[in-house]
Amino acid sequence: MLNKTAEIISNLVVASGVYKMTLSSRELAHDSQPGQFLHIRVNPGNDPLLRRPISVHAVEDEDKISLLYGTIGRGTRLLSKKKSGEEIDVLGPLGHGFDLSEKPDRAVLVAGGMGAAPLFFVAQRLKGLVKESKLLIGAKTKEGLLSVSDFKEIGCDVWQTTEDGSAGRRGYITDLFEQALLDQTIGGSIRVYACGPKEMMARTATIAGIYNVPCEVSLEEKMACGLGACLSCVVDTIDGLKRVCKEGPVFRSDEIKW
Ligand SMILES: Cc1cc2nc3c(=O)[nH]c(=O)nc-3n(C[C@H](O)[C@H](O)[C@H](O)COP(=O)(O)OP(=O)(O)OC[C@H]3O[C@@H](n4cnc5c(N)ncnc54)[C@H](O)[C@@H]3O)c2cc1C
Ligand code: FES
Repeated sequence: MLNKTAEIISNLVVASGVYKMTLSSRELAHDSQPGQFLHIRVNPGNDPLLRRPISVHAVEDEDKISLLYGTIGRGTRLLSKKKSGEEIDVLGPLGHGFDLSEKPDRAVLVAGGMGAAPLFFVAQRLKGLVKESKLLIGAKTKEGLLSVSDFKEIGCDVWQTTEDGSAGRRGYITDLFEQALLDQTIGGSIRVYACGPKEMMARTATIAGIYNVPCEVSLEEKMACGLGACLSCVVDTIDGLKRVCKEGPVFRSDEIKW
């Protein structure tokens, strides 16, 4: 069954306007795949009417998962007010996640801002199965570089950029992407997993295409049902319109008409 009630274990501020919520649910911990999301009722009742989609950030252990989210508008602000011990109503795990069936020698994770949220779960799953996981993470300022110590803790090699130069190299994370692909310190096959602003993913897709490297992107569109019924979340692909909530949110980057 998709509809579940999960107990909130904690809901803590981890950066300015960013929260990490840990939920107790053996079923979600067991069933969730990297790139999938939960569709969350942020308030009991029908106000707001629509659920909010949030990616699974990590499986903490066999009974717990966590979410990492920014407070953007009313829905996520209501979510941030939830206390440990409260229960929330979620649908999920939903959607089609990253394809981790083929393990590359080198995984390159490209994260822009909140895009770090689903990619941490990818890094968790690839740990020990690839020769190298490299995280390229970019944000406007150093406060926006999320979960960097967590990625390092599970063995990722982290390269950072900020637009204001407050940490890492000044610029966009895509400025380092080509260099990461060409880095031959560890040879072998490469796969790219990206999540972030659309322009960042489009640029990542173009560069991955030039180097003929398989690349997947996790897209965001405004969602209503989250279940494939309302068509509010469609994107244009080379095979026609596809639903981000059902065929996505993760797509091959060469499928998308950017
Ligand atoms: C598959 C998926 C996974 C996501 N994972 C995360 C995550 O892990 N962490 C995180 O911080 N955010 C994530 N988001 C974005 C998050 O869903 C929005 O920030 C959130 O819905 C905003 O709701 P709000 O009420 O706070 O803002 P408002 O702007 O007040 O929302 C109004 C309406 O717009 C929709 N909406 C607004 N922004 C977005 C958006 N960017 N994407 C989709 N719907 C939006 C809301 O669902 C709501 O219906 C994800 C979005 C998608 C589609
Ligand atoms: S949100 Fe309804 S079809 Fe995707």
